[in-house]
Amino acid sequence: MIPPVLPTYNRAPLSFVSGEGSWLVEKDGRRFLDLGAGIAVNVLGHAHPGLTRALTEQAGALWHTSNLYHIPQQEALAEKLVAATFADTCFFTNSGTEACELAVKMARKYWSEKGQPERHVILAFTGSFHGRSAAGIAAAGSEKMTKGFGPLLPGFRHLSFGDHDALRAAMAEPDVAAVILEPVQGEGGIVPVPDVCLKGLRDLCDETGALMILDEVQCGMGRTGKLFAHEWAGVSPDIMMVAKGIGGGFPLGALLATERAAAGMGAGTHGSTYGGNPLACAVGNAVMDIVADEAFLAEVRRKSARFRQGLEALVATHPDIFEAVRGSGLMLGLKCKVPNTDVLQAAYAQEICVVPAGDNVVRILPALNITDDDLAQALDRLDRAAASLVPA
Ligand SMILES: Cc1ncc(COP(=O)(O)O)c(C=O)c1O
Repeated sequence: MIPPVLPTYNRAPLSFVSGEGSWLVEKDGRRFLDLGAGIAVNVLGHAHPGLTRALTEQAGALWHTSNLYHIPQQEALAEKLVAATFADTCFFTNSGTEACELAVKMARKYWSEKGQPERHVILAFTGSFHGRSAAGIAAAGSEKMTKGFGPLLPGFRHLSFGDHDALRAAMAEPDVAAVILEPVQGEGGIVPVPDVCLKGLRDLCDETGALMILDEVQCGMGRTGKLFAHEWAGVSPDIMMVAKGIGGGFPLGALLATERAAAGMGAGTHGSTYGGNPLACAVGNAVMDIVADEAFLAEVRRKSARFRQGLEALVATHPDIFEAVRGSGLMLGLKCKVPNTDVLQAAYAQEICVVPAGDNVVRILPALNITDDDLAQALDRLDRAAASLVPA
């Protein structure tokens, strides 16, 4: 019999009832160290007093009015994002996949407004993940996500990650509107795009006019130690998708764009009932005020450098279990030699939460304000988890 909750997830037999900082309390009372942060969402951990205050104060004043009216919290957050990034304008969504929908619409509208509607193809990469909407699965293109859901949204062309010649040839096609990619692939297994490649892609976009869409849903909001991951390469996109961390656990996403890329998006071209609602934006403002601060980002970089050394030592201690450490900042992956699902189970047994990813990787995506003590605990528990596993 089908359960009341549609069974699209393979859930662990765990159910958390409260949280504080980087710790989650299971209903049986066990305390788990959370290195997943709701899949890169709880950037400030659980029950952060500032976020709780922002949400409850807003909840006592006004929940929702719709986008028929000005929403001061939304305008304040947009101004912060515009001031902190390449962007001139923002549209707020409830999720990353909705930001992907708008990114695709905006890129196509841009060319349509320029009188070249035939430029509608979006280039995307194998191993990518852009959400589960029609545009999201068509963009990622993998069989796992698209099988049985055809006909897929047309107008996407897929390229192998790292094949520069194929990319150059594909970008030269006259029907290309944009290219979409994650600066660090998350679901695909924590795969960073080298800075030099991101720079090269920016140059190709400038030569051909194609728009660069960066999906920073997972790698953005301080996760790599810069507010947005593309800053490491010194380039900026035309359009950027943001979600997850920006709401710190409250559903919120955003699509950021330059004035040029957004030129076609006038009144009536897009909308959302909930997107940018007062509750979500009250929390988003509180998150931005903390995470966009350079001192906070410097701390993320400091902690990540030290933690990464610890993970390298873990790999060296357990060479039959782990192959390598990958990633950037506090967006890290352990490439496993045994099935990553075994590592996940062993981690649960040591009361630590990590997240599986593609390419047999285990993701480590802690709260960005995790303490040094908790990071030391994390290494200790991962060491015990690895020691409990039988090599392949
Ligand atoms: C890179 C990336 N893009 C888009 C999405 C989709 O975001 P959401 O699940 O909020 O719709 C995700 C979610 O994991 C993601 O990691």
